[in-house]
Amino acid sequence: MTKIKDTGAVTSLVRSLEQKHNTPLFKDSFAELFVDKGAENMFKEKMDLYPHFQQLIAVRHKIIRDEINFFIKSDSSFSQLLSIGSGYCTIVNEIQKKHKNLKGYEIDMPAVLKKKISKIKVEYLPKLIYCDVVEKKDQLVPKLLSNGFNIEKRSLIFLEGLLYYMPNGNFINLFIKTISEIMSSDSILIFDMQVGKDSYSNKETDFLNYFEDLSAWSSMIEDLNLSILKYGNIAFLDQWNRLNAFRGEIKSSLFVITKHT
Ligand SMILES: C[S@@+](CC[C@H](N)C(=O)[O-])C[C@H]1O[C@@H](n2cnc3c(N)ncnc32)[C@H](O)[C@@H]1O
Repeated sequence: MTKIKDTGAVTSLVRSLEQKHNTPLFKDSFAELFVDKGAENMFKEKMDLYPHFQQLIAVRHKIIRDEINFFIKSDSSFSQLLSIGSGYCTIVNEIQKKHKNLKGYEIDMPAVLKKKISKIKVEYLPKLIYCDVVEKKDQLVPKLLSNGFNIEKRSLIFLEGLLYYMPNGNFINLFIKTISEIMSSDSILIFDMQVGKDSYSNKETDFLNYFEDLSAWSSMIEDLNLSILKYGNIAFLDQWNRLNAFRGEIKSSLFVITKHT
């Protein structure tokens, strides 16, 4: 079974493979730093279980990257960019370099962020916040505040590939509630999560299938006084025809949420 803290190396491996594609969906010059034997073995395991794994992770990354860039470029009033479960992804650093008025924050388990910073031997801009958001859930907000995160400022918060690893639906509900409390009005939350059962759901995997239908997700979000700006199944949002063969099988979905006053 996959160790959660090692899953970031597998998504890095996918991003590094993408660099060798004829028409890569994005550039990521850091991804290869995190590829090791463990990541290669885990990648093989994932591909045996889910033949669409590589393309799904690449397309998901492209879609989330495009959403973040869309909001940041089209509106200069965002002042904070926060990635929770950031793993070895370096989008926050990349965007912070271009938008000097934006403060970047990344949260992940201590071992992950320590490894990240030891491998990236250049000046790295985001504030790294070491926190296991399940085991130490009560420390999430205090750690953000003590690192300068301002809950009154407009933020863009994203969770790429994180919620699958949360213990259950109740926990996800509480977690999104905590996040909604650090979102000022018009802040944006972007995340992906499975909606509905797929043909892999009965296999013994580490992917969880909480909130099996959209109505459960939408009522949770509305109950928290949040609104869905955009929702879509990732296989159907794929404009690059990487997932054509798997449409109908993939249930991973994108959510873009906002908070109104
Ligand atoms: C599938 S990886 C995705 C990493 C990164 N967002 C990306 O797309 O490459 C999931 C990440 O969530 C982190 N994660 C999972 N559970 C966590 C927890 N309880 N607290 C903090 N981070 C967690 C893992 O350490 C890992 O880096």
